[in-house]
Amino acid sequence: PGASAPGPSGASGTSAASATGLLAAIADVGVDRVRGGYSRHGFDRAELALREWFVAESRARGLDVEVDRNGNLWAWWGKPGPNALITGSHLDSVPGGGAFDGPLGVVSALAAVDLLRARGFVPSRPFAVVVFAEEEGGRFGVPCLGSRLLAGTIDADTARRLRDPEGTTLADAMRKAGLAPERLGRDEESLSRIGCFVELHVEQGRGLIDLGRPVGVASSILAHGRWRFQFTGEGNHAGATPITDRHDPMLPASQLVLAARRAAAAAVGSRATIGRIVPVPGGTNVIASTVDCWLDARASDDATTRSLVTEIEAAARDAAAAEGCRLEVTEESYGDTVIFDPALRDELAGLLDDAPALPTGAGHDAGVLASQVPTAMLFVRNPTGVSHAPAEHAEPDDCEAGVAALAKVLEHLAGS
Ligand code: GLV
Ligand code: MN
Ligand code: MN
Ligand code: MN
Repeated sequence: PGASAPGPSGASGTSAASATGLLAAIADVGVDRVRGGYSRHGFDRAELALREWFVAESRARGLDVEVDRNGNLWAWWGKPGPNALITGSHLDSVPGGGAFDGPLGVVSALAAVDLLRARGFVPSRPFAVVVFAEEEGGRFGVPCLGSRLLAGTIDADTARRLRDPEGTTLADAMRKAGLAPERLGRDEESLSRIGCFVELHVEQGRGLIDLGRPVGVASSILAHGRWRFQFTGEGNHAGATPITDRHDPMLPASQLVLAARRAAAAAVGSRATIGRIVPVPGGTNVIASTVDCWLDARASDDATTRSLVTEIEAAARDAAAAEGCRLEVTEESYGDTVIFDPALRDELAGLLDDAPALPTGAGHDAGVLASQVPTAMLFVRNPTGVSHAPAEHAEPDDCEAGVAALAKVLEHLAGS
């Protein structure tokens, strides 16, 4: 239920859709009745329904949709070509996520196209709305998977073998969705067409609330990565095993949680989170045999992030040894600090009544593309300051201010 594609709003180029109206059309897709919020993950039923909806909305606007080698969708306004202006975001979410992270950038792009058309604007360079696949890594573990594959910053074989929690590989999930995983990998053709990428996103913090501004531009993204910590001990009986005879991997796992907080608190501006722990087999009356924990660590630069992780790992190793457990640590993804093109950022801020420039701790496809092409981001005020949770929000007026800002930016960058 809730995973069939809603029909297009029927925007035909004469009536402009609102971002809020477009979000309302997908409000029933991927609702997570257990965790709250939305669970829409790469190539699952909900995300596929949203992709289908996006294709229908694009076609209703006369945009031609292409799927690239890596499962990203491109809706072209006019003919595809070099030096294209690209805008868009993603449609997937974290588990139990909000309605705006990702979809707001996609619906704002469609609404901006409507707005520009209503004004009689015709872009003077190729122009497309993009939807990147599996941005959150909520299913296969690696964030920005579609854009990383496009840019060639993840190896195609590694990607094909990524598994979701049920054991389905990315390759199988893509095949099931009618895509050809053999073709995954750096996509020179698509990359060489991108002249400039602009991603609009809900703000994931309090910067714009505190400044009393509806729209801002991004200045930078923290270096960040994900590490899997697998503790192996000895599975046994919770009642029959004396405390002194145990090798319980949950003990060092708990110490890992504390070490992550301690290390991040000691390094100003750093963040370290254990948001996911999977004990195996996971029984109330069973001492776990293994515990997998995922560390998300972020800091201002590469060296600080690396030393944060080293410190946390050292504490985890000590804790594992003390309990007679083994520890294996695997880096699952990493991205260095991103500084968005300062000239483009200032140009867009100026165009938007001196919109404030804000750093962010959140990762984005725009951060992946920033190393390849001139890239910018617009942020829309989030009155709760909360993201990756159901409380994430943006007021309708602010969403429309975002669409107006995006349209102005696109008009500026694609004007004659
Ligand atoms: C993705 O949104 C991330 O920053 O984890
Ligand atoms: Mn996110
Ligand atoms: Mn996002
Ligand atoms: Mn993100």
